[in-house]
Amino acid sequence: MEIDGSTTIVGVIGYPIAHSLSPRMHNAAIRALGINWRYLPFQVAPENLEKAIEGMRGLAIRGLNVTVPHKQAVMRFLDWVSPEASAIGAVNTILNEGKRLSGYNTDVEGILAALQFGARLEKLPEKVVVLGAGGAARGIVYALTTVTDVKYITILNRTIPKAERLAAKMEKMAKEKTKIEGKGLDGETVRDELRETGPGGCETTHGAGLVINATPVGMYPDVDCSPIEDSSAFHPRLVLYDTIYNPKETKLMRLARSQGAKSFNGLDMLVYQGAKSLEIWTGRKSPVEVMREAVMS
Ligand code: ATR
Repeated sequence: MEIDGSTTIVGVIGYPIAHSLSPRMHNAAIRALGINWRYLPFQVAPENLEKAIEGMRGLAIRGLNVTVPHKQAVMRFLDWVSPEASAIGAVNTILNEGKRLSGYNTDVEGILAALQFGARLEKLPEKVVVLGAGGAARGIVYALTTVTDVKYITILNRTIPKAERLAAKMEKMAKEKTKIEGKGLDGETVRDELRETGPGGCETTHGAGLVINATPVGMYPDVDCSPIEDSSAFHPRLVLYDTIYNPKETKLMRLARSQGAKSFNGLDMLVYQGAKSLEIWTGRKSPVEVMREAVMS
């Protein structure tokens, strides 16, 4: 459909934004839906964030995705924030209805759908290890504690107090239904958490069944880095979900695979969070397969 006087604009704000796959993914979905919309990238430096959000009101931009580094800072410029986004402390989707701006967090839907439909984990294991304690980790731990029946979560982070604080906050929020611990991201702790050993050093079945990387370590251009360097931590009963999608196979995924663990990249999470954002803006079901194809190619 050609751009004309009634074209609706949606888009994404971030800094930098040039490598974002979202414009390609959303414009493919818009074409498939046959609507007169366009999805544009907007590079917004942190000092211009407030002006950008006022511009969204002024220009009647229908919706924006919000990415690094604005997910937290943007919240104070909105009229309403969903309970989910406010519990996580981050907004990744803004809806503009008659100049009233509402903030949502569709990363929750993104990770859950990616685990269920992408990694085909119908039932999540009892114990999950999350690497990282930043914004992405907060959304993931929130999703695991509120929607699934995962019983134990260990948050491993380079800065230990951050892991401990997040664990305490989320455990309180989960009303102690989930036991959550925060520890360091060092080789020995990682091995202990992923491979729990019983008396005499024999492996037991109490180790984690799923590990989710919520750090940016290993992302392009630092493709030779990995948050876990020791492949012996992995075992064939383990599933690794890496939220990174560039490169498509991270060093961490390679290490996991070398030990027989299944591994998945973050493309499905990107697709499902995007599909949910588009549904919030259009009120229609998103063409998930079209969106997946657009980012896979
Ligand atoms: P995001 O919103 O993408 O999660 P963030 O809030 O800045 O970004 O969090 C980044 C996470 O990746 C943090 O857990 C960070 O660890 P620290 O709390 O110790 O900073 C982790 N991280 C970033 N670079 C890292 C590195 N080189 N090694 C280990 N962890 C790293």
